[in-house]
Amino acid sequence: MARRSESGLPIEPVYGPEALAGWDPVVRLGAPGAYPYTRGVYPTMYTGRPWTMRQYAGFGTAAESNARYRDLIAHGTTGLSVAFDLPTQMGHDSDAALAHGEVGKVGVAVDSVDDMRVLLAGIPLDQVSTSMTINAPAALLLLLYQLVAEEQGVPADRLTGTIQNDVLKEYIARGTYIFPPKPSLRLVADVFRYCRAEIPRWNTISISGYHMAEAGASPAQEVAFTLADGIAYVRTAVAAGMDVDDFAPRLSFFFVSRTTLLEEVAKFRAARRVWARLMREEFGARNPRSLMLRFHTQTAGVQLTAQQPEVNLARVTVQALAAALGGTQSLHTNAFDEAIALPTDRSARLALRTQQVLAYETDVTATVDPFAGSYVVESMTDELEAAAVELMRRVEDQGGAVSAIENGFQKAEIERNAYRITQETEAGERVVVGVNRYRLDEEEPYEPLRVDPAIEARQVERLARLRAERDGGAVDAALAELRTAAEGTENVLYPMKRALAARATVGEVCDALRGVWGAYVPVEAW
Ligand code: 3HC
Repeated sequence: MARRSESGLPIEPVYGPEALAGWDPVVRLGAPGAYPYTRGVYPTMYTGRPWTMRQYAGFGTAAESNARYRDLIAHGTTGLSVAFDLPTQMGHDSDAALAHGEVGKVGVAVDSVDDMRVLLAGIPLDQVSTSMTINAPAALLLLLYQLVAEEQGVPADRLTGTIQNDVLKEYIARGTYIFPPKPSLRLVADVFRYCRAEIPRWNTISISGYHMAEAGASPAQEVAFTLADGIAYVRTAVAAGMDVDDFAPRLSFFFVSRTTLLEEVAKFRAARRVWARLMREEFGARNPRSLMLRFHTQTAGVQLTAQQPEVNLARVTVQALAAALGGTQSLHTNAFDEAIALPTDRSARLALRTQQVLAYETDVTATVDPFAGSYVVESMTDELEAAAVELMRRVEDQGGAVSAIENGFQKAEIERNAYRITQETEAGERVVVGVNRYRLDEEEPYEPLRVDPAIEARQVERLARLRAERDGGAVDAALAELRTAAEGTENVLYPMKRALAARATVGEVCDALRGVWGAYVPVEAW
């Protein structure tokens, strides 16, 4: 009997010419770097330049994270990726009651332009592209980044990087939302307009499937719900008066890479083809860059095990290989100990070295899209495409991604799949080496990295000093201006930048917006 893929599609024991009977490679694939981009977004892909090695990192105060970034750059990472702590992600200052116990824990604490200045110290912002994993307050962190770049003398039109800025998936699977969908989407459109005018090389959003996959989404669900979110963002910007080619070239995506390599390669190829077709046919995009689905990949955190953690090195290598064979533009490889704690310097370096072995010791960068024409991968690409398109139609039937979110549709579909995975694992049908097969009678001890609990007190002191030193009147006036803009239709990023420049904090700016837009209250899933 045929085995089932992660998307529930049959995997035949043998594929032959009949699998691709009548299949036209010119129509289905196109050339590398040409519509529909099945084979990759650039004609030369890695033969000219390997993917960006972009390791997600950040913890403690800005000074600790700055040291890790400089260490990663010294070891050969080619792009920065900033992890923020939950208070920053939720728009609360480090001294807010809600922040207690979370300051500097899952990422770096950034309360103000002072912290951003320390975070980026000694990093040439005209040479390094920086991703910031920040969603509801993404506009603020982008503006803080721009303010520090101005201090470094780097003009905004030289800045390259990405803000995740994908609040829709936060309602579905991650939870770091602040405002209700309507004002959140207005803020996304304001960012699109601001970047087109002020920071033209910045990728304004990283439309993410990763977190839905980590919550249990299948590859077909991951593609379908991510691209459906993408459609909602495009419709929002077009409704706000932008031409699709004014902003679409700076949209980007973010997917997971699972250990099931063949299906993952097919998933990335199918996603590019679906996005290219809908951008051309539904939105009439004409600029080729508007049709290109450029994406970042992170290896699957949820597939890491705490048991026998070194086994994760093998999993991450296979997952990273799948991302490379699938044509990713940027890649984060998880450290083998991340199921236990924050990576140590050594495990973080080993994660980066894994990418360097794939890029420089193997031959996967010698040729573009090596699986093209493969009976199994082309069959899987076609089947995954059909499954994703069918799911996207079900979202569309509910009025699109936002209505489906309000119905709890995506969340319920993902939870059903997550439950199936759990049942299969518990039944031993789904092998997890070291967990339900090949276990050790007694796990070997592993000493993880521990975050210094004094970090919160140090950060709270910094905030108290900032509030004592700054011109409180100027801050109050700037926040009042921001509230007025939020009540109207003006692009809020301009008054927001003035408030942040006056050393208003992330929490104060978000509180001003909460006062106008309110805070989102989640619906219960079906
Ligand atoms: N031929 C021609 N040009 C090429 C090329 C080739 N083969 N390869 C690269 N280039 C060019 C590109 O056109 C680009 O030029 P441009 O800026 O003028 O367009 C430049 O070289 C850089 O190449 P890419 O844009 O392909 O690569 P980047 O790394 O700069 O950007 C991205 C990749 C996906 C577009 C971008 O959005 C990105 O870096 N995203 C990263 C997102 C990220 O790191 N997220 C982390 C999330 S972690 C998280 O969510 C939380 C945790 O819980 C998981």
